[in-house]
Amino acid sequence: MLTFQKEAAEKLEGAVKALFPEANLTAQELFGMLEVPPDSKMGDLALPCFKLSRSLRTSPVRIAEQLAPAVSGGEIARTEAVSGYLNLFADPEALSARVLSEIASRGERYGSPECGEGRTIVLDYSSPNVAKPFHIGHLGTTVIGHSLRLLHEFAGYKCIGINHLGDWGTQFGKLIVAYRSWGSREAVERDEIDELVRLYVKFHEEAEKDPSLNDVARAEFTKLEAHDEENLALWRWFIEISLREYKKTYRQLGIEFDSYNGESFYTDKMPRQIELLREKGLLSIDDGASVVRLDEWNMPVCLILKRDGSTLYPTRDIAAAAYRYENYDFDKCIYVTSAGQSLHFAQWFKVVELMQYPWFDRLVHVPYGTVSINGAKLATRTGNVVLLKDLFAQAIEKASQISAEKNPNAEGREEIAEAVGVGAIVFHYLANNRMRDINFVLEDALSFDGNTGPYAQYTYARTCSILEKAGGRGSFTGGAVSDAELALVKTLASFPERVLAALREYEPSNVTRYILDLCAAFNRFYHDCQIVSCEDEKLRENRIAMTAASSTVLRTALSLICMKTPEKI
Ligand code: ARG
Repeated sequence: MLTFQKEAAEKLEGAVKALFPEANLTAQELFGMLEVPPDSKMGDLALPCFKLSRSLRTSPVRIAEQLAPAVSGGEIARTEAVSGYLNLFADPEALSARVLSEIASRGERYGSPECGEGRTIVLDYSSPNVAKPFHIGHLGTTVIGHSLRLLHEFAGYKCIGINHLGDWGTQFGKLIVAYRSWGSREAVERDEIDELVRLYVKFHEEAEKDPSLNDVARAEFTKLEAHDEENLALWRWFIEISLREYKKTYRQLGIEFDSYNGESFYTDKMPRQIELLREKGLLSIDDGASVVRLDEWNMPVCLILKRDGSTLYPTRDIAAAAYRYENYDFDKCIYVTSAGQSLHFAQWFKVVELMQYPWFDRLVHVPYGTVSINGAKLATRTGNVVLLKDLFAQAIEKASQISAEKNPNAEGREEIAEAVGVGAIVFHYLANNRMRDINFVLEDALSFDGNTGPYAQYTYARTCSILEKAGGRGSFTGGAVSDAELALVKTLASFPERVLAALREYEPSNVTRYILDLCAAFNRFYHDCQIVSCEDEKLRENRIAMTAASSTVLRTALSLICMKTPEKI
């Protein structure tokens, strides 16, 4: 309803000028004062006049009463002064005509703020640690990250998606030891990542009994760092196997990355940063390690070099950010990780600020809450995890059982089952505010009833089948607009602001919740109004146009949260 709000603000500006010539209020200021009333019976927008009473030196009640008759026309059907509030009601016909023709002409661009032209956003997301299981703990970074990418692309930004793979670190020493002690080439070739995870878990079980294994693993990693050929070959092999697996999951989600440069990629790019830190006098020695002190900002030291001179996670992040700025000239670089890493990001963001990098304020950390399974914490080491691929496989299996019963002859059934199964999980996850901690209950995630992904996809498919029957996309040519129709049009009109909120708050759940609102409004309309079978030709065309607009917007909204949109289910 942004356009309606803009129009209301302009009309109000004129009315205020005419009635209170000495006041100096701009349309923009008035725009900011307008509110959506809690109940639509009180109007579509309301101006709380107490916000004006000081500058106009008049009581709110009086202001509302004076403005009420002075504001009308265009999309404003009528106004009402109620105890200091000026309530504004949209004109159903004018609003429908404008919104429906805008959607018809802008098509899949409808809702885009078009604010990203010529600017680049780098998004660092998913980024699993190779050789550790890719589990539901990574669902957040993967789908929030990708959805943020899609939202920015929708707004016109050029986006670079980077998978900052955790492909360096002592876990490789552990895996090398485990592979040599309890593994075999055949087993890894056969079971691929499952075998790697088994070995990783096995290592931890054994190290529990014999802690000296940890030293052996560290020594193997040191050899790897020193480019030991045999260890390097194993390392490459483990990465290749893991990546192949991740890519299957990404394909199911429709995700492609522009770069898989992981932590190892920055090995030769760190010395320059360390040099710079030293030159700027930012490094101090703490128990043999090189650190940047951050007491002044109430944070613990940021570790740059360990005692033995090896680099750390923050060191690699600093080098990666500098590299990305040089290569992509980003407007923003967005990192999506669990909130457990918030301190890490706050620390190294401060370090690059102290290094006086001009882009320090273009870094954005987008955290999300933790995930537990049936109330228990995830724990890779003990194997208490649900792998993403297993979760998706179960969901797809369920979707294909349902479709086999309902629609045994449907074409492309497998593809549809995948879209619906995976969609159920993605939607379930993105329905929550990202900071909320989630207790993952499998039955809920796999539920297809109620406010779920499959319900939204089903609603989209319904719009498609109506349009197919209609044989056209209709057009709105005025006439009576019923309550259900008006509610639907208003929901369609509010899509742009929901997209803006998602971008502003880095919060895809704005879109998920919008989808549910739109589905509810559409299904009510579908229930209350005859569409294709409507005898009145004018009304029929109007309603087909409403269906077409709902279809367009639902499709856009679903794709913004990584959901596929089959036309038949
Ligand atoms: N690999 C890390 C993890 O799984 C996430 C990396 C996030 N990105 C970054 N540039 N630090 O915890």
